[in-house]
Amino acid sequence: MLRNKDLLGLRETAVEEIHEILNTTELMKVVITSNNKKTPHLQGRSVITLFYENSTRTRMSFELACKYMSGTASSVSASTSSVTKGETLIDTARTLDVMGTDIIIMRHPMTGAPHLMAKNVRAAVINAGDGINEHPTQALLDMFTMRERFGGIKGLRIAIVGDVRHSRVARSNIYGLSSMGASVVAAGPPTLMPPELEKLGIETTDRVDEAVSGADVVMGLRIQLERQKNGLFPSVREYHKYFGLTEERVAKARDHALVMHPGPVNRGVEISTEVMNSPDSKIDEQVTNGVAVRMALLFMLTRQKPETGGM
Ligand code: CP
Repeated sequence: MLRNKDLLGLRETAVEEIHEILNTTELMKVVITSNNKKTPHLQGRSVITLFYENSTRTRMSFELACKYMSGTASSVSASTSSVTKGETLIDTARTLDVMGTDIIIMRHPMTGAPHLMAKNVRAAVINAGDGINEHPTQALLDMFTMRERFGGIKGLRIAIVGDVRHSRVARSNIYGLSSMGASVVAAGPPTLMPPELEKLGIETTDRVDEAVSGADVVMGLRIQLERQKNGLFPSVREYHKYFGLTEERVAKARDHALVMHPGPVNRGVEISTEVMNSPDSKIDEQVTNGVAVRMALLFMLTRQKPETGGM
């Protein structure tokens, strides 16, 4: 059972809740890897994805998750909605809410937008990425991928490498992995490392080789060119040379360490094609696990919601 109506971030999610989500994901993975991807868990339930930023993996996996569980999945793209006519976020939220929606899944460029929405709707809200704050479902699928390989998270050494400053994936992973007992080291150019990392009690370094040495998991992050000003690093070619995940660098990790990346990937910038295609790369498995973790969350958030009575 989740304590809150919504899933807005891993900072406020308890360890026991994370365990329960990962246990439920394991059951859901059996469904999506079978030839009968249909369960009745969301029968009669309605889910809307409301995305103010582009997405392939997150949006599609939520929609598939809903359909696999017999729910009604609908999608609103901000660029083709009444948002373009000046409708406020709260008015949009209330409009969707009174259509009988059970869960609204939201991605927004502003930190805190899903939190604001959650306060103004009866539906459960899932944060599918808010600005540079959190992307909790990505971190949950990342943790599930690690747990599948290692049997648990506690005691693992995780190197998170790249544009940590602009990465909501990194923040959610840092909150979730730290509370689950992993040791996290963040590495990248100093200009792409946020100052608050030290307060979170994690190691930081500008030497990727040092971070990767002895790691159980090496997680590359996308350089978010759309969110940053020019001049934070000299060029993509130099970035790859000094901070990219190359075969030589990844070889410093433990034998058969997992290589992960949330996608989308800038090939040849933060990670080389050879590393992406290596047997230790779990990038495709992460995408598969994304569907399973989102099925688990849709199920758990609708299960705890009391019936409001039929018409
Ligand atoms: N990892 C991730 O959030 O990918 P999308 O932007 O494609 O959803």
